[in-house]
Amino acid sequence: MIGKRIAVVLLAAVISAGFAPAPAMAQSKSVSPVAPKRALVESAVREAYNKYRNDTTGKNADYIPALAQVDSRLFGIAVVSTDNQEFVIGDVKYSFSIQSISKVFTLALAMEELGPDKVFERVGSEPTGRPFNSVEAVVDMPTHTGNPLVNAGAIATTSLISGKTADEKWNKILNFYSQAAGEKLHLMNDIYKSEAATNAGNKALAMLLGKYDRIYADPFQSVDIYTKQCSVGVNALQLARMGATLANNGVNPATGKQVIKREDIPHILSTMAMAGLYDASGGWAWHVGLPAKSGVGGGIVAIVPGKGAIAVFSPRLDKAGNSVKAQRVIEYVTNKLNYNLFSPGSVGLK
Ligand code: DON
Repeated sequence: MIGKRIAVVLLAAVISAGFAPAPAMAQSKSVSPVAPKRALVESAVREAYNKYRNDTTGKNADYIPALAQVDSRLFGIAVVSTDNQEFVIGDVKYSFSIQSISKVFTLALAMEELGPDKVFERVGSEPTGRPFNSVEAVVDMPTHTGNPLVNAGAIATTSLISGKTADEKWNKILNFYSQAAGEKLHLMNDIYKSEAATNAGNKALAMLLGKYDRIYADPFQSVDIYTKQCSVGVNALQLARMGATLANNGVNPATGKQVIKREDIPHILSTMAMAGLYDASGGWAWHVGLPAKSGVGGGIVAIVPGKGAIAVFSPRLDKAGNSVKAQRVIEYVTNKLNYNLFSPGSVGLK
């Protein structure tokens, strides 16, 4: 009874402070004391949306033919906070292929199964300074795999996932992503078929890793599962929820479920900060200062630890393979809300 009265008073306080009430399940878990105020996020995101909506810089990926067919005008932004507030604008119901953003969650699953030390030993976490599909990096890097977010390191990470059959491994990966999104996710078969027919480069990377004993299952089976994981469909809101799960110490704020081990989160976020935007990661850290991951499908998700995540979808990419509009929007919102982790202002120092 007393508990109920306290809950009512708290709810009234939350509403008068301008927050949207979060579902009971999310409130039952400990909620970050630094979760953002809805009104501030709303106005920053709306401003960014209006500022960049007519920006046509960049072009769709076309080395995977199906990606060239995606309407380049699509544009959506979603924010999910650690206390499960959601804010969306634009084309946030459109499912696009997650592509390289998947690598973050397969890394999380590999650590779930093997622990961080084994994953670090078998894949590593060094930025390559090279394009995401670089053969030279495999030859030159002391680890050969580089890190779990470039294609070679990601294929090696996928090869670590246990299972008697390829299907068992794939279903485990898809189920894990779905837990992070808080909804059942699905394979986009047209994207998968298109990439599977054109991925000779990834097969070559997997074979080359074999030369250095840095692939841990059948190379072609691993590339096939990796291609499927890249072809998982997500919308901007689902992607933001996956990011918010990382921001919330591995607990999905919408379901209240611990999806990723709490102790693995710093390893995941540090890897994203070092290599999430490939050879553009240094510039990103300089200007934005948030762990993030891009995919050639046009998505980028950025994590504000303890606070939430922002996901942006816009298919036009720059030369490094990162969505132009998504980068601009996230930079704008980050500056506006003082979220750059390297800025003392991010912890309230004026
Ligand atoms: O393996 C590939 O080339 C794609 N499936 C994923 C690459 C990617 O998303 C790089 N991203 N920015």
